[in-house]
Amino acid sequence: MRIYAAKDYADLSRKAANIISAQVIMKPNAVLGLATGSTPVGAYRQLIEWYNKGDVDFFQISSVNLDEYKGLSGEHDQSYRYFMNHNFFDHINIKKENTNVPNGLAPDAETECRRYNHVIKSLGGIDLQLLGIGGNGHIGFNEPGAAFEKETHLVTLTEQTRESNARFFAGLDEVPTHAFTMGIKSIMSAKKILLLATGENKAKALYDSFFGPVTPGVPASILQLHNDCTIIADEEALSLIREKTNWKDVNYDN
Ligand code: PGA
Repeated sequence: MRIYAAKDYADLSRKAANIISAQVIMKPNAVLGLATGSTPVGAYRQLIEWYNKGDVDFFQISSVNLDEYKGLSGEHDQSYRYFMNHNFFDHINIKKENTNVPNGLAPDAETECRRYNHVIKSLGGIDLQLLGIGGNGHIGFNEPGAAFEKETHLVTLTEQTRESNARFFAGLDEVPTHAFTMGIKSIMSAKKILLLATGENKAKALYDSFFGPVTPGVPASILQLHNDCTIIADEEALSLIREKTNWKDVNYDN
């Protein structure tokens, strides 16, 4: 596990985009595991900029997203399909048919989970999985719980997660109560992991995840056991790690 300190959000976004574009350049038909949320938006923006300059090409890339709200169609402006189209896919040359997000309107949840697991397997697995982290240590919508969930499954969202996402909806009542998410096993099977975190409200989650015990009570803590996991965080998100551990960032300046 490597932790890189970013000077600010632009620096974090550029560092993240560097790692993603390196993956795309090294393997033009790579499978990217992608994430929504506010944190990765800057990295997507940076990748779009480099795409427009001709520096990176997504023509053969496939993608699988971590999660999707149950009950929202891809046209709903808070669905994760809409988010991905709007923030990334519509601006690059990835083929839409090669982009995968769970279907929030699937009539049968179990069938949809099986289908999504099959999609990931048939692509040959994920080369690079991008992750944000919740204030409670969740990854995807894998919320703190009694066990690490394995593959794609339907979750009941915690009140903390619903409240934290309510800002994007007309009100808390509008926030879906359930979501499809890749499981911990799906995420851990990715060859590389890249986790991004910004802001003080992530400081405890980062400290607990990477300097505490590996426990399903802090879902991201499982990443300590991944053999190629990179974390990029800003100073606010690193504040508790700096305060409580002797971790020092290596010089990664670009
Ligand atoms: P955020 O969400 O990027 O909007 O902070 C991250 C998450 O909850 O996984």
